[in-house]
Amino acid sequence: MTNIGNYEEKYKTFDWSQAREILGYKEGDFLNIGYYCSDRICEQGKGSKLALIWEGMDGTVKKYTFDDIRILSNTYAEYLKSIGIEKGDRVCLFMDKIPDLYISFLGILKLGAIAQPLFSAFGPESLVTRLENAETKVVLTTKKHAFKLRKIKDDLPALEKVVIVEGEPKKMEDYEVLFSLESADKVDKLESFAADLESPSVLHYTSGTTGQPKGALHVHSSIFSQHVTSKWVLDLKEDDVYWCTADPGWVTGTSYGIIGPWSLGVTQCVLDAGFTAERWYKFIADHKVTVWYSAPTAIRMLMKQGKEVVKKFDMSSLRHLCSVGEPLNAEAVIWSEEAYGLPFHDTFWQTETGAMVITNYPGMEIKPGSMGKPFPGIQATVLDLKTHEPVTEPGKVGLIALKPGWPSMFRAYWKKKDIYDSKFIKGWYVCGDRASIDKDGYYWFVGRDDDVINTGGHLVGPFEIESALLEHPAVAESAAVGKPDEINMEVVKAFVSLKPGNEPSDELELSIMNFIRKKLSPLAMPQEIEFVSSLPKTRSGKIMRRVLRAKEWGEEIGDTSTLVDDE
Ligand code: PRX
Repeated sequence: MTNIGNYEEKYKTFDWSQAREILGYKEGDFLNIGYYCSDRICEQGKGSKLALIWEGMDGTVKKYTFDDIRILSNTYAEYLKSIGIEKGDRVCLFMDKIPDLYISFLGILKLGAIAQPLFSAFGPESLVTRLENAETKVVLTTKKHAFKLRKIKDDLPALEKVVIVEGEPKKMEDYEVLFSLESADKVDKLESFAADLESPSVLHYTSGTTGQPKGALHVHSSIFSQHVTSKWVLDLKEDDVYWCTADPGWVTGTSYGIIGPWSLGVTQCVLDAGFTAERWYKFIADHKVTVWYSAPTAIRMLMKQGKEVVKKFDMSSLRHLCSVGEPLNAEAVIWSEEAYGLPFHDTFWQTETGAMVITNYPGMEIKPGSMGKPFPGIQATVLDLKTHEPVTEPGKVGLIALKPGWPSMFRAYWKKKDIYDSKFIKGWYVCGDRASIDKDGYYWFVGRDDDVINTGGHLVGPFEIESALLEHPAVAESAAVGKPDEINMEVVKAFVSLKPGNEPSDELELSIMNFIRKKLSPLAMPQEIEFVSSLPKTRSGKIMRRVLRAKEWGEEIGDTSTLVDDE
């Protein structure tokens, strides 16, 4: 029996007040995500139940009960208070997927501060833009990553402290402090900040076409959406062992790698190690994972390793699989059914939506290649590309749009009100993706409506890459676009014109690639650089990425009447 029961019935009868009841929240209660994911589960008598099974690169396994998570997150909250963190302050989490990441996330929320997770592979330039915009007061990090902050500290006047929670640098800077959860005095009793429904909780940065990344601000009531979608889409139940492969540097890793499962009191596993098919399958077999939430790029990597390797492991514990982040091609759904005896269920959502909005449900017929149908309580449509009126014809492509009002909708882009406002058209929130709806109400993803590059399920903004490219001494002009890739769907390709005195060469290509990898991240690093004498521009001088991208994808270029030249 699935948790959701009959989807069509639920869609007709559900409203968000029911999500409050399902979570057990009553009007006037305080609503703190940190409390709901730890203390409350203990109050339900599940303090000794396993909350986290963590496995590190070298195979070390650590286990934490809900009571451990409660006490340790209290300990973090108390420590942060002692160093001056108050309600509303931004505290950045910048570390690998170590237990401290999951525990301190809850500690920050318990204090009423705002958690700002950033992907640990980010380089100094990716960090500085996000920390500067958020005016982050404290960064929690590890010795391994602290050096990147040293490079940019002078550019961050609001940053008061860098707390190193693992490892000890030989020489400390005056703004650096050490904190060890192991040796800290444990805090059994803590009064969590009495958040209300609209109190800010999490700030996740996401990339757009223009400008630097934007911080999507969420509030504590997002837990209503995350709780009920975890229950109905991930189908999480009392005895499940759940594995979300996403890193909490990205929204999937917090909404469904922390908040959703823990608000349900479900045991979850974390693997803090690189990918190999064997390692992943062994992890599933060792910990008897039952529900698995992953991404199409990972599934394509597993497909590449073939079905034979699957047979070497006992993965009979698995019972439900979901995927997010990129289009899940029909072949992947069919392959997983053959390889694991279970299909992956595609789920569509965004940093901005905070929780799943269009998905496939356990028990509902899957049309392989489709994203499924809107979640109960979500009114969705596709808008005509020109008129922005809802499309009524089945199969006609339009912009995915949602009626505002679901609990986990972002409340702002941090200090970017105009951009936030521009996402709403005629009373709809417009996601920035194109899709069509078939006669049965299933959504089919077509592509993004902007120039953002989706590489391996991670969004990378072309502007951020282009700005960084221009800092390379040999680069005069640049454009970054996504080019097709068998595994990652897209990878970054850069077009570069050189300053006089520089000649294209393999060495220069490598030097530019490394420059971006170190400054931004391995994700943003162009996999290919094409040296050109000039870039296609509009009459007003704007670089036409559209033309470059179309060439890469073998598509029609479209209207070029505004171009200066056809390079
Ligand atoms: O373009 C869509 C794609 O990822 C974007 C959201 O990325 P982000 O904010 O980083 O959040 C990712 C995880 C929630 C979307 O606008 N995307 C996400 N899920 C799907 C998808 N594209 C196709 N199919 C999906 N299931």
